[in-house]
Amino acid sequence: MQDLNKLWKIFKEKYTDTGLAKGAFSAPGRVNLIGEHTDYNDGFVLPMAIEKYIVMLGQLRNDPLVQAFDLGYKVKIKFSLDRLYPSKKDAWTNYLMGVMDEIQKTGHPLQGANLIFISNIPQRAGLSSSAALEVVTALTATKLNLLEIKPVKIAHLCRRAENNFVGVACGIMDQYVSCLGKKNHALFINCRINDYELVPFKDQNYQIVICNSKIQRGLVNSEYNKRREECKTAAEFFNHKLKREIRALRDITIDEYRKYQGELPKVIARRARHVISENYRVQIGVQALREGNFSTFGQLMIESHQSLRDDYEVSCTELDLLVDLALKQEGVLGARMTGAGFGGCTVNLLRREYIDAFEKTIKQGYKKITGILPDIYVTPPAEGAKVIELKQ
Ligand code: GLA
Repeated sequence: MQDLNKLWKIFKEKYTDTGLAKGAFSAPGRVNLIGEHTDYNDGFVLPMAIEKYIVMLGQLRNDPLVQAFDLGYKVKIKFSLDRLYPSKKDAWTNYLMGVMDEIQKTGHPLQGANLIFISNIPQRAGLSSSAALEVVTALTATKLNLLEIKPVKIAHLCRRAENNFVGVACGIMDQYVSCLGKKNHALFINCRINDYELVPFKDQNYQIVICNSKIQRGLVNSEYNKRREECKTAAEFFNHKLKREIRALRDITIDEYRKYQGELPKVIARRARHVISENYRVQIGVQALREGNFSTFGQLMIESHQSLRDDYEVSCTELDLLVDLALKQEGVLGARMTGAGFGGCTVNLLRREYIDAFEKTIKQGYKKITGILPDIYVTPPAEGAKVIELKQ
């Protein structure tokens, strides 16, 4: 990532100084340790922010115009805060417009702004570069306009932007952890009541390592929406069956599932089994981390992957390969796909002293079979979105 002085220099080359408030902000990507496809079932998740960020520099303008320059892709967009609508042409404009629209809908009119941003979060790798862009836009817009909006509220409005403007029916996990992540902590989120707890994740002996399969499949959104529908169908079935209100699969116990699963269509039963068992795994996993029991946590990661592969069917051969290769390595306690699936990354829990050997063997093994050299990122849990510098 370039240093801030250089970025301000670029900013000054691109825009005339308006003399109004300016500042620099950042928001991280995330990796989910466990709790996959549970957030939109009102369940539990345990992501952490990673040391990969989007940095945005901005200055207010005296009119409703927003100009933004993406330094990575070298593209510039312009739009007016008076006319915000989902754009078919520039997909990433929707993240910025959507967020600004949602802020204005909370009753806070915004001033226009000049913006530049740069990212080192790999795109379409399941590490939430989109959520980071939404969150850093929200932080920039709110801080420069002197609006006090709590991080939890920012997470929600960013998610609404993604739902309404970008058209992806995602859950709350990504935006939440990008806003609220803390250094050396994972974030245990109860997605029903939107409550969270920080779980310490710092041990000299263990490290999280991410492997990027570099596979990107276009079917993520359609399959994602399909899984959501299947979960809804299962929840409705249990709502009719049981004598209490079932709002989501989060409300079903394993015993109830076992009792009635035979009456569900086979695919729906498998989807429900993943979500119900995954919610248990997250809760046991949090307990294990609190006790410093990394081997139990690793085992839960392995079970999570099996469940995502066989029951939820959102893995792919390349992700399975990365997990298989990892589990053959010495010093690996757990490995699983992370994020929505169908490509993207795996997350691995390793004993620190094996990291170098792991990296070498995974790269060789994966390249040999797929012809693709995977990227590997070693990252401790990082800090959530923050103000880097506020200049008036
Ligand atoms: C995507 C969504 C999240 C979550 C995961 C799967 O990252 O944005 O809300 O549903 O998939 O766990």
